[in-house]
Amino acid sequence: MRRPLVAGNWKMHGSREGSRALVGAILEGLGPGAGAEVAVCPPFVYLADVQEALGGGPVALGAQDLCPVPGEGAHTGEVSGRMLAEFGCRYVIVGHSERRSLYGEDDATVARKFLAAREAGLRPILCVGERLEEREAGVTEQVVARQLDAVLQCEDGLEGLREAVIAYEPVWAIGTGRTATPGQAQEVHAFIRARVGERDPGLAEGLRILYGGSVKPENAAELFAQPDVDGGLIGGASLRADSFLAICRAAG
Ligand code: PGA
Repeated sequence: MRRPLVAGNWKMHGSREGSRALVGAILEGLGPGAGAEVAVCPPFVYLADVQEALGGGPVALGAQDLCPVPGEGAHTGEVSGRMLAEFGCRYVIVGHSERRSLYGEDDATVARKFLAAREAGLRPILCVGERLEEREAGVTEQVVARQLDAVLQCEDGLEGLREAVIAYEPVWAIGTGRTATPGQAQEVHAFIRARVGERDPGLAEGLRILYGGSVKPENAAELFAQPDVDGGLIGGASLRADSFLAICRAAG
């Protein structure tokens, strides 16, 4: 059985005080014995505050990105996986479409980040997904396969997936209010699982594949009910405790 995961991607939002308040409200609303695993991914500069506010409780901490170079070195502006681990991060998002499209990250860079996360003992949340024109051109599976294979082809890539999570996020659904239908999500999730399954069926069976892209309290339950959808990566709706909590409850 795969335990669902709901991870909030706060992106470049919030403030120190607001982050603490949001975490407080999430912890209060979640209560004990939640079915799904819950994580929050604040901006780097709020990690220390959020770690403290989480207090080692049931909600896990994640970061939104990391440097592809492990350890430390002359990389102005970068943050390494080791540094993130020091703040108690369990997860780190790699290859988010905003990193790919706005900051020029290609598949090879994303694969390096994936491996750097693994080396630091973090669990990568590897984001994949097609752009609207790619869906319309009927090449969704090719795009997702290419993004996935960039990691699978690396030495240790397949092994790294054991600890990792994949997030399928169609670019046209991110922040647009236009969600993939449960059927569209399921189709791509099943494709991803099958592709990993060609190399290691047992690993594929245990692999958590999240859906991301305009998940809201109103559509979460239907998406999470799909057999290959194991939770969600939530942007906008994770910035308010009430909507985030409703989505967490929908996951189990
Ligand atoms: P959204 O973002 O929920 O605001 O669409 C999802 C994401 O980018 O991870």
